[in-house]
Amino acid sequence: MPALLILVLMFLGHLPTWIAAATPANRGDAAAMLALANSTGTASPLGWGVKSSDPCDGTWAGVTCNAVGRVTSIHASHAGLAGVLHASDLGNLTFLAELDLSFNSLTTPTGDLPLLSSPLQHLRSLDLRNNSFYGIPEGFFAGFPNIETIALDDNPMISQIRPDVLTCSRLRSFSANNIRLLIRFPYYFGSTLVFPALERLSLAGNEITGTVPPGFGNHSKIKYLDISRQKDSLEPGSSLMGRMDFISGMESLVEVRMDHDGFVGPLPDTSKLVNLRVFSAAGNKLCGVPKFAGSVAVNLDGNPDVGSPC
Ligand SMILES: *[C@@H]1O[C@H](CO)[C@@H](O)[C@H](O)[C@H]1NC(C)=O
Ligand SMILES: *[C@@H]1O[C@H](CO)[C@@H](O)[C@H](O)[C@H]1NC(C)=O
Ligand SMILES: *[C@@H]1O[C@H](CO)[C@@H](O)[C@H](O)[C@H]1NC(C)=O
Ligand SMILES: *[C@@H]1O[C@H](CO)[C@@H](O)[C@H](O)[C@H]1NC(C)=O
Repeated sequence: MPALLILVLMFLGHLPTWIAAATPANRGDAAAMLALANSTGTASPLGWGVKSSDPCDGTWAGVTCNAVGRVTSIHASHAGLAGVLHASDLGNLTFLAELDLSFNSLTTPTGDLPLLSSPLQHLRSLDLRNNSFYGIPEGFFAGFPNIETIALDDNPMISQIRPDVLTCSRLRSFSANNIRLLIRFPYYFGSTLVFPALERLSLAGNEITGTVPPGFGNHSKIKYLDISRQKDSLEPGSSLMGRMDFISGMESLVEVRMDHDGFVGPLPDTSKLVNLRVFSAAGNKLCGVPKFAGSVAVNLDGNPDVGSPC
């Protein structure tokens, strides 16, 4: 490999592992990774710390470091990990950019998602789907000021979205399906001032109440929206109600899912949604004659008044 190319790769922080192996891990990162390996049972499934105590030498499956021995990504999805994730270990990995611990059995000493004492400035993506976390503590989102992608789906929670989520202004994707969110509709996700880059919002299978305000997502970049299956915890039926008119101003929409909610009234005007491909709103109480472009896959099953004028 020509020396210049190696220099450029070093500069970009993308070294092939056979070169990166030459740089041992930063001492603080190595200590944090050993503690993490110990408490999450990562030794047997991923061999962390088994052949070597250096997480950057290529023997730790799923761990990537940069040219100066800082841990930049951890990918340990479906790894059979069970145990405790300590916020203090995580918080010491100050160059971490990607963390994927999805589909394991991890929790924390409090049971809630890990609450960092100082923010991880470089973290861009966080995937904690399908683990054993029981709640979202106040201040959780403030731990990731530059986060772009968050996925918290399928944890055994009863939860709220904390207001500090408003500090995550670079969010592109927020996914929190099936975590028993007991909140009023989080209208702030539709604000292009607060979340100018948001493209994907997925909040299906929760207990979100109220209505979606008419200006929600007006001129936003949201391409994918799933707010289906909001269940009323007290009575049969859905807790999410009102009209669907807000859709008309969400010009970037490609796919929208609002099945098995309590929406009422006329089908929304989708004539400005030129990229729309999926409109799924089965099991609501809508009315009117559908007028969708031929390119849209439409599901309006279980709306007895669809097909006749309102
Ligand atoms: C994390 O950093 C703190 C403060 O520098 C230190 O006291 C602690 O021992 C570190 N934890 C680990 C597991 O390295
Ligand atoms: C590993 O975990 C045990 C408890 O499970 C603890 O006593 C021990 O100090 C830990 N070792 C390190 C290096 O963190
Ligand atoms: C979560 O993971 C477990 C196994 O780890 C699996 O049995 C379960 O179906 C998963 N749940 C979801 C909703 O994906
Ligand atoms: C959406 O924005 C346009 C201005 O670009 C405005 O005329 C319209 O009233 C807004 N719609 C809603 C429902 O707020």
